[in-house]
Amino acid sequence: MIRGCAARRWIHAALTLMGVTLTVAAAVVWNDAAAQESGAPNPAASTGAGAVAPGEQPIAFSHARHVAQAGIDCQFCHAYARRGPVAGIPSVERCVGCHRSILTERPEILKVLDYWEREAPIPWLRVHDLPDYVRFSHKAHVRSGIDCAACHGDVAGMDLAVQVESLSMGWCVDCHTARDASRDCLVCHY
Ligand code: HEC
Ligand code: HEC
Ligand code: HEC
Ligand code: HEC
Ligand code: HEC
Repeated sequence: MIRGCAARRWIHAALTLMGVTLTVAAAVVWNDAAAQESGAPNPAASTGAGAVAPGEQPIAFSHARHVAQAGIDCQFCHAYARRGPVAGIPSVERCVGCHRSILTERPEILKVLDYWEREAPIPWLRVHDLPDYVRFSHKAHVRSGIDCAACHGDVAGMDLAVQVESLSMGWCVDCHTARDASRDCLVCHY
């Protein structure tokens, strides 16, 4: 117990020395072109989970209509979940692949087509946002057969994507314990 506390203080001190602040930041936008589609980590990533309220996203995108109703697979849009650290946010090009011909007269689709014409990424607000000092990769989890819903809940039925799990250290470590995965501090911390 005492040794555990000392280790926590040590990591905390080391993280502080590295300039990591443990404060909660305001909502962060997925506006980095590299994080959209390419699956590269978002360099603008910052601490704190963004709670996104209804109407705040730039387009009223509904997972329920695309997944539950239209039957589109998660990984058609989040194409990097099996391959890299970041699942990725689909580019406007991917939306237009369908919406240059589907529902083209609807106001929300006209907004999508306007981003496309201006060659501007859609400035989606981040829903999940682990602190920068935490290492997480989708690849290992998805390849070991863990379903998206185990960590994200029933996104397929959501109109507005929200965070359903705490993403706390305890939440990660509980599953690592249950599944006999590593609990080494440096597996999850830089
Ligand atoms: C048609 C494309 C599309 C499909 C299919 C899709 N998504 Fe998404 N997803 C998006 C877009 C666009 C966003 C960003 C807007 C938002 O947060 O709602 C997003 C956001 C998310 C987020 C929140 C990301 C963040 O900012 O933290 C999660 C989690 C997510 N999707 C999981 C899933 C899962 C699980 C499935 C399958 C059940 C799925 N998605 C299917 C397009 C899609
Ligand atoms: C694979 C084809 C496909 C892709 C890719 C796709 N959509 Fe859709 N989208 C649909 C279909 C089909 C519907 C109608 C679903 C329903 O309600 O049954 C729809 C509906 C919508 C609507 C509701 C429009 C309205 O007012 O009725 C919006 C907004 C939307 N899509 C935005 C997006 C965005 C943003 C993206 C890119 C992140 C995207 N879609 C990617 C097929 C697609
Ligand atoms: C073991 C838990 C876990 C599983 C399984 C999982 N995710 Fe995630 N997902 C997370 C965490 C944690 C984050 C936040 C990462 C961050 O902030 O750096 C996240 C973030 C995301 C995001 C935001 C963009 C990004 O990549 O950071 C999307 C989109 C997403 N997940 C989709 C999916 C999809 C689709 C699946 C299934 C194919 C899936 N996730 C499986 C835990 C998981
Ligand atoms: C639902 C269960 C579950 C949850 C929740 C979970 N993990 Fe894991 N994690 C696993 C399993 C199982 C493995 C081992 C995968 C393997 O054998 O390659 C793993 C492996 C890892 C690895 C090693 C990846 C690699 O590249 O070898 C890291 C890092 C990791 N998890 C971080 C996290 C973090 C951070 C969180 C919380 C934000 C988290 N995990 C939440 C089940 C989980
Ligand atoms: C399976 C992944 C995982 C492992 C293993 C892990 N951590 Fe963490 N840790 C996290 C996550 C995720 C957070 C961020 C929690 C949050 O934002 O609420 C975190 C946050 C922290 C923090 C800062 C938050 C606070 O309480 O002030 C410290 C310090 C920390 N971890 C130390 C450790 C030490 C020491 C170990 C080894 C005994 C360890 N961690 C092992 C995932 C992990």
